[in-house]
Amino acid sequence: MASMLMCFLVFFGATLAAGFSDAQPKPVPGLSYTFYKSTCPKLESIISKQLKKEFKKDIGLAAGLLRLHFHDCFVQGCDASVLLDGSASGPSEQDALPNLTLRPAAFKAINDLRALINKKCGVVVSCADVVAVAARDSVALSGGPNYKVPLGRRDGLTFATQNVTLADLPPPTSNVSFLINTLNKLNLTITDLVTLSGGHTIGLAHCTSFTNRLYQTQDTNMDKTFAKNLKLTCPAANTTNTTVNDIRTPNTFDNKYYVDLMNRQGLFTSDQGLYSDSRTKSLVLKFALNQTQFFEQFALSMVKMGQLSVLTGSKGEIRTNCSARNSGSGLWSVLEPLVETASTF
Ligand code: HEM
Repeated sequence: MASMLMCFLVFFGATLAAGFSDAQPKPVPGLSYTFYKSTCPKLESIISKQLKKEFKKDIGLAAGLLRLHFHDCFVQGCDASVLLDGSASGPSEQDALPNLTLRPAAFKAINDLRALINKKCGVVVSCADVVAVAARDSVALSGGPNYKVPLGRRDGLTFATQNVTLADLPPPTSNVSFLINTLNKLNLTITDLVTLSGGHTIGLAHCTSFTNRLYQTQDTNMDKTFAKNLKLTCPAANTTNTTVNDIRTPNTFDNKYYVDLMNRQGLFTSDQGLYSDSRTKSLVLKFALNQTQFFEQFALSMVKMGQLSVLTGSKGEIRTNCSARNSGSGLWSVLEPLVETASTF
């Protein structure tokens, strides 16, 4: 009897523990995990099926899509403003320096998904949600954690100016204090910083993003052999060549980025600094030694980043074409306050 009771307690305890570890963070008001349950129930399988096909042809697209979500969310919130083409009102976010290296294939993949979803469900899913789910699938299909994405974002009507875009996306030459301050303005913590930087476990970088560490003087915080090889790829500071972000497993989403940092083989000043600064070093070590802990925290930090300043309810719109706001949306934004005023009389 006692052993049966023991068995029950062990089983019950384990179930509870599993339940806790599976717990999803509470979505911000307006978003939910079941947002398209009745309007587009197949949404997530449409996206993952299509991306599986695309990644077979070009696994680099996964990195492109993950970075696109980051660049969307850090500037004006996750409102797909980064997808808007420039217009008569001025150059778009896309034209700002940090966005010039976003992959054209990533923009195309989102527009292709948009068309596919419109065909199957009608125009009910926002481009911002498509970007968030595509980023999650990019992580999961590259070997990283699978996690649920709160949905219900709406698409913004405007893009940010060049100056705002530049101020919101930290450059790769940033030191840790600058990065902490930048993320702090978005209510993201030091843990979020170290964790989200782990996105550099996949993808590419252009020489111009790190040659500040090779020329004129070589960064002493970079492994000498690593630097020598990078100089072969980037014989001059402004070469247009690219190299992989994570030399150990460039196309796999794993914790090797942190192992790179421990070996002074991080690419950017902003990467390598995380291992020299006392505020971030212990977390780098923890993630280098324990991939499970990295994956769990990455899922949490991504869900947090993915909900930054989202538009919900009747704000913004659902764009028919992710590259342009709907025609007539300017008219609605003028009419809405009038309707509200009228109804108060
Ligand atoms: C913390 C501050 C960050 C800085 C300073 C930074 C900087 C950069 C730079 C300079 C590149 C290379 C661009 C190029 O030369 O082509 C890059 C690539 C990349 N970044 Fe970041 N990044 C940061 C955070 C993040 C975050 C939060 C994520 C996602 C969670 C991310 C995901 C990526 C990916 C996947 C690539 C490769 C893109 C591709 O291959 O197309 N980065 N990042």
